[in-house]
Amino acid sequence: TAPIIRRLSDLRAKHADWIRAGERVAVVPTMGALHAGHLSLVEAACAACDRVIVTIFVNPRQFNNASDLASYPRTEHDDAEKLSDCDVDVIYVPDGDQIYPDGYSTNVSVSGVTDGLEGEFRPGHFDGVATVVAKLFLQTGAHQAFFGQKDFQQLMVVRRMARDLDIPIEVIGCETVREPSGLAMSSRNLRLSAEGLERASKLYPIMQQVADRLAGGESFAPLADEARVKLEQAGFNDIEYFDLRCEDRLQILERPTKPARLLVAAWMDGIRLLDNIRVSQL
Ligand code: PAJ
Repeated sequence: TAPIIRRLSDLRAKHADWIRAGERVAVVPTMGALHAGHLSLVEAACAACDRVIVTIFVNPRQFNNASDLASYPRTEHDDAEKLSDCDVDVIYVPDGDQIYPDGYSTNVSVSGVTDGLEGEFRPGHFDGVATVVAKLFLQTGAHQAFFGQKDFQQLMVVRRMARDLDIPIEVIGCETVREPSGLAMSSRNLRLSAEGLERASKLYPIMQQVADRLAGGESFAPLADEARVKLEQAGFNDIEYFDLRCEDRLQILERPTKPARLLVAAWMDGIRLLDNIRVSQL
């Protein structure tokens, strides 16, 4: 299994060896509790680069409330086990002070793509994400970084941040990995009962139907109303957003006249679920 490194200086030493040998380095940032979605990113990273760093850091700055942070699963041993089947070179699990040392005072805040969606319902969340990801990019010195489209807005935020700060890294977005039922894989799914999982699985077909009808030329507003009713009937009790947005800048669309995504956040049995799918362009 890959060594676990907890200190930046040790990571930097490895990195220097790799760069000297002319090797390409990938990073896959995670918060642990790894599942097949994360592992697909690791596979993509292994296929693309000579060296792969998987980072595991439950970033306190991106949580909106203390209890969500406290209850976030911490499964380092199992995570390392899961990564042992992959060709990972280092698991970087930084001690807290390696990311936020005493006196830490800098915030990275991205505007524009953070308007609406998660940015609206989780105030401060993307500052936390952009800050920690900027640090992980600079600490790992990776050439490429792998993110899931599952968190589509996050992917856009991270891309924008790297470009704006001239961090020389290529941000790659990978397809969402789903359960056979269509439910997007998430560590949060583990908190649902068997019955809750079954109800949650209605989300994907409902989104798919809307996407199909958009591709058939229908306008979004009435489709969204219909879909919200269906989601409520399926047992989702708070649909925070159900939006059609363009892929490049995440602005609201009424029809998919350019590359577009349907993005949803909704609560099921006290669990907040997120998903998004591509919509064919008209
Ligand atoms: P985390 O939720 O652990 O997710 C790590 C990466 O796995 C993200 O890029 C996320 O989009 C991807 N991922 C999660 N579920 C997926 C799925 N079903 N299919 C494909 N990819 C999936 O996202 C974070 O951590 C944090 O915000 C982080 C970027 C690590 C910064 O702290």
